[in-house]
Amino acid sequence: MAPFVRDFRGRMTGAAEAVALPASTDEAAAVVDIAREHDAVIFPIGGNTGLCYGAVPTAPGGRPAIVVGMGKMTSLRAVDRAANVLTVDAGMALARVHELAAAEGRQFPLHLGSEGTAQIGGLISTNAGGTGVLRYGPMRDLVCGIEAVLPDGSIYRDLDALRKNNTGYDLKHLLIGAEGTLGLVTGAALRLRQPNRTFAHGWISVTGPKSAVELLSRLQERCGDTIEAFEMLNRAEVDCVLRHIPRTRLPFNATPAWSVMIELAHTDPEADLVSALEEVMAAALEADLADDAFVAQSEAQAKEIWHIRHSVTEAHKIEGVGIVHDTAVRNSAVAGFIEAADEMSARFFPEARVLVVSHLGDGNVHYILMFPHDYWRALPDREAKALEVEMAVHNIAVRFGGTISAEHGIGRKLTSELRRLGDPVKLSVMRQIKRALDPRDIMNPGALLV
Ligand code: LAC
Ligand code: ZN
Repeated sequence: MAPFVRDFRGRMTGAAEAVALPASTDEAAAVVDIAREHDAVIFPIGGNTGLCYGAVPTAPGGRPAIVVGMGKMTSLRAVDRAANVLTVDAGMALARVHELAAAEGRQFPLHLGSEGTAQIGGLISTNAGGTGVLRYGPMRDLVCGIEAVLPDGSIYRDLDALRKNNTGYDLKHLLIGAEGTLGLVTGAALRLRQPNRTFAHGWISVTGPKSAVELLSRLQERCGDTIEAFEMLNRAEVDCVLRHIPRTRLPFNATPAWSVMIELAHTDPEADLVSALEEVMAAALEADLADDAFVAQSEAQAKEIWHIRHSVTEAHKIEGVGIVHDTAVRNSAVAGFIEAADEMSARFFPEARVLVVSHLGDGNVHYILMFPHDYWRALPDREAKALEVEMAVHNIAVRFGGTISAEHGIGRKLTSELRRLGDPVKLSVMRQIKRALDPRDIMNPGALLV
């Protein structure tokens, strides 16, 4: 049972009486019925790639715990090319969805580092983000239907995937981002897009976060919504990846203080994106927003850029103990937020190295304090230290009008922080919804709301 009761980084371990692996929606509903009969609780788990311990079973009050893994529900249910809808089981991995969409001459535009393992149900339950949010939105914008077993054992089926359907509350939006607290997602209808046919990939060394935001504005003015990804990393982050991940190579002589990795993409095979990117980069160099720039000349070079970007979490695991934040502020506030967080970190946590990796296109900043393994091991109370770091960073995010969780969710990691910093009116409504749908607290207790 070990892989079902602890998170993939091995930071939190729970316990359970049983692991159930339903092979169908009816079997999933039967598991919920069993739980109801025995006053047990259900802990759903997908690919177990989450960073907030949302899938670690922690049963309250000695109630028996059943982990429900979705790994046997991996089927394609239907493809509708005219409607651009792909209907799948919740246990299908994101990379498989990409393949199936491509085989139909379409694309599914959610992209993140763990896409080989992360499953659709978990991506829905955490309203996952990634590098494509700037252009396509998070999971919430890409899901057009949901099937789920509700806490009372009934099966909610909403897979018609109609573009227009105004018949009251849109319950799928309650289940998206609910982190398994309102139901067990068993299937989904996903909205496909036309595939991109022309691309440009670049890496530019900018003079700082402020310049990066200005570069983004210029790129948007020149290229509209062809910006597929706009990712910013600081030097320590890129160096961390180069140190630990094989087959990583820098297209510059030295690691830039601030890197921006850019992908442009267009459905039009004639679009000249490389020229557009080169033009914007040249202007940025001219205006001293940047001091070096690289445009990929081949698919292999493009892959090298994104291999570095998508390897950050793997590299962190080796480097040390990273206290990873998932804050977001408006783009216009990103530079101020980072500056304030840097001052705070230098003052209160000098043992940590600061790593920054940001989906700058949408204002999401992963501000990471990386502590050496030895230092961390010697701490008398590691949990207290982690919370101390988190509270300090979150306070700054809130001061800049931001959020403490942009795309990773709350899980079991941020429940106390949500209570401390969340809008009381919103929290009260969330609790009322939870009580109404799950009065016996069967579904993923301990996550999101406590
Ligand atoms: C990333 C993870 C940390 O953006 O969300 O790489
Ligand atoms: Zn991210």
